[in-house]
Amino acid sequence: MENVTMLIVGAGPAGLATAACLSQFSISHVIVERENCSGSLWRHRAYDRLKLHLGKEFCELLHMSYPADATTYIPKNMFVKYLDDYIEHFNIQPKYLTSVESCIYDNDKKCWSIKALDMAKCMTTDFTTQFLVMATGENSAENIPMVSGLQSFPGETIHSRNYKSGERFYGKKVLVIGSGNSGMEIAYDLASHGANSSIVIRSPIHVMTKELIRLGMTLARHLPLHLVDNLLVMGANYIFGDLSRYGITRPKLGPMSLKSRTGRSAVIDVGTVGLIKKGIIKVQREVTNIKGRTVEFQCGNKVSFDAIVFATGYKSTTNIWIKNNESMLNENGMPIKEYPKHWKGENGLYCTGLARTGLAGIAMDVKNIANDINDMIGSFSN
Ligand SMILES: Cc1cc2nc3c(=O)[nH]c(=O)nc-3n(C[C@H](O)[C@H](O)[C@H](O)COP(=O)(O)OP(=O)(O)OC[C@H]3O[C@@H](n4cnc5c(N)ncnc54)[C@H](O)[C@@H]3O)c2cc1C
Ligand SMILES: *[C@@H]1O[C@H](CO)[C@@H](O)[C@H](O)[C@H]1NC(C)=O
Ligand SMILES: *[C@@H]1O[C@H](CO)[C@@H](O)[C@H](O)[C@H]1NC(C)=O
Ligand SMILES: *[C@@H]1O[C@H](CO)[C@@H](O)[C@H](O)[C@H]1NC(C)=O
Repeated sequence: MENVTMLIVGAGPAGLATAACLSQFSISHVIVERENCSGSLWRHRAYDRLKLHLGKEFCELLHMSYPADATTYIPKNMFVKYLDDYIEHFNIQPKYLTSVESCIYDNDKKCWSIKALDMAKCMTTDFTTQFLVMATGENSAENIPMVSGLQSFPGETIHSRNYKSGERFYGKKVLVIGSGNSGMEIAYDLASHGANSSIVIRSPIHVMTKELIRLGMTLARHLPLHLVDNLLVMGANYIFGDLSRYGITRPKLGPMSLKSRTGRSAVIDVGTVGLIKKGIIKVQREVTNIKGRTVEFQCGNKVSFDAIVFATGYKSTTNIWIKNNESMLNENGMPIKEYPKHWKGENGLYCTGLARTGLAGIAMDVKNIANDINDMIGSFSN
């Protein structure tokens, strides 16, 4: 049994930033991570061509900037290098291969009691802690929707988190289900590697360029969101034209408002729209049924495929292991309290990175959490 002041669960960007900030306040802490490395999402679960979608100024962890000569949109490998530098600079030492399995608040002892699995030794280790930070991410488990007849599909099916490159799909007919940023980019990657690529676009999306989003995020610091939204939609319509004949329509709510109210991001075009216009990537409606290799779509189209990529998003799994979750998480593992009050629960419980606000949101969460814990500890010792 290990007694600690503060336990951080997860060594992704959010957990690492929390550890760094606590070090700055000289608050001792332990950070545990179920995988064998930090930033596992970026190291092992992201496709090769991925770059940060947002400008680098919106993607920094606290207390360390990117090198001055870094490109505006940081490629995946550079981001991983940044995480490594961050860990070295702040001397962060996560306990890897340590997966938190259950956690309950002990009302008598006034502390959190945690069971974790030491995956290397195949044994449980117990912790008690006064403060607990859940930095387990929104992308903890893959979300694959029920599709009627999917089990009869003889080809390969993979989730976007396991997709690396379109290289091995050369000459294959591949269907991408899901039209968020991952789905749209994977459809492009497949086509550019010589696969016959189709994508299911089920609901309205805001197609934008990365420059428009960067401009929008900058303007949103000074202007009301609806004004910024109008500007972005005008700009995007000018650049892309009317895409409705390709099955792409815009949501009623503008891109910035949509993000802030629902967490849904605009799609940043990497060239997919151009290939859709040329007919190189085919757009399909919702899948209604699968029978063998044949996929049936809502409009009645039937097309045969060799492989299916599910770019259908992720689930948080934090609510599976945390009991006494009433003060923090709903049944989807997301914060109950609305942004920006979401980060603090009761009895020394905190969360960061669960409010669908990306790396910029993580930086804000972590600042709040570290200050709060520092105040609490200060008031105990006085
Ligand atoms: C393809 C893709 C592109 C993205 N691009 C951007 C972008 O450009 N800009 C941006 O701001 N955001 C982007 N995001 C969002 C991205 O998720 C966050 O920016 C960031 O990675 C979140 O950090 P995190 O630490 O909260 O979560 P994660 O990076 O997911 O880290 C959580 C960690 O917790 C660990 N963990 C989970 N459960 C347990 C447990 N029970 N016990 C121990 N450890 C556990 C996990 O293994 C993981 O390492 C992107 C996401 C994806 C999927
Ligand atoms: C770490 O885990 C990944 C899979 O998640 C695996 O591919 C890799 O080989 C492992 N590395 C080490 C050093 O064990
Ligand atoms: C690609 O797939 C579509 C169906 O989605 C089909 O109509 C077309 O003929 C295929 N093209 C090639 C080159 O195989
Ligand atoms: C708390 O988590 C449990 C699973 O452990 C879940 O069944 C329950 O709905 C959650 N409570 C709330 C308030 O979301």
